[in-house]
Amino acid sequence: MNLQPIEWRDDKLFLLDQRLLPEAVSFLECRTAEETALAIESLAVRGAPAIGIAAAYGVVLASVQGATAASRAICRLSGTRPTAVNLFWALRRMETALNLFSSMNTESPLSSFLLEEAVAIHREDIEINRAIGRHGQSLLPESSTILTHCNAGALATGGYGTALGIVRAAREAGKNIRVIADETRPVLQGARLTAWELNRDGFDVTLICDSMAGPAMAKFEVDAVITGADRVAANGDTANKIGTCSLAVLAAFHGIPFYIAAPISTLDLSTARGEDIPIEERPAAEVLAFQGKRSAPEGIKAWNPAFDVTPSRLITAFVTERGVVRPPFGENLRRMLV
Ligand code: MRU
Repeated sequence: MNLQPIEWRDDKLFLLDQRLLPEAVSFLECRTAEETALAIESLAVRGAPAIGIAAAYGVVLASVQGATAASRAICRLSGTRPTAVNLFWALRRMETALNLFSSMNTESPLSSFLLEEAVAIHREDIEINRAIGRHGQSLLPESSTILTHCNAGALATGGYGTALGIVRAAREAGKNIRVIADETRPVLQGARLTAWELNRDGFDVTLICDSMAGPAMAKFEVDAVITGADRVAANGDTANKIGTCSLAVLAAFHGIPFYIAAPISTLDLSTARGEDIPIEERPAAEVLAFQGKRSAPEGIKAWNPAFDVTPSRLITAFVTERGVVRPPFGENLRRMLV
């Protein structure tokens, strides 16, 4: 059955708690915008499109208390994670709906009005991922080995996935697909989430440590590296999970195409270049410990940027719901938006 990581039921938000995977499949109930914000900050829900969808529902939860509470929720949710632009995009849509409601003379409750917009954001995301899948799978040979990083799958979206949406669509098109998944230190989205969701759906998946990507490209004759994105700047520089840029360098060295799969909502034309993308720094504890158990001596410092920026010259193409975008990216990405 299709994996649905985000559900709205009985006026509440239910999130498949990604902190507990793969040991437990358990849904976290969010009754308030604050609980939703904490779920985003603690990575119970993560992945750029998924946090945008969850935040939109978070605004609906607050709107039961009225328009001021909804506005405050937008502000609080905007402060949860700085890099994924889909979060701000979804909250802007909710703000526009809120303003529209305020200008209308209607008896219907605000929360029902805002719920329609949140549900639309959620449903559209699944459709968008299917379109990304269709465009992306056409780039792959009949028998392909794909290397991916982090989790840009059903869990990171409304369902189906972006990078893993391409993997799914390729199999649906009858192709023979094998996936090499980077474990993705420090939080192990690759080991815990990508390996789990692909294995659940019966894919041939092989897990490697991040440091094994170079030799794995040669040994497994990788046909393409495909990752998601948290924010694409106007010139094509792309922020994604830390470790993505190193993969792009390795892919260039090995002559392997490097694709970024992302919805148009991840494109941020107001950010000119990669250097301008805000990069989230997370607690040192994530690096100093491995799955909750300390793995470094007491008193050691750690640096923990959650994302890096891959320069556009290392990217072969973007796969969006509107098609495949090739260089020159500055010009061609802009064209995608009109
Ligand atoms: O810190 P995370 O787990 O939210 O990071 C997620 C990623 O980097 C994903 O690749 C990106 O958000 C795209 S998800 C379709």
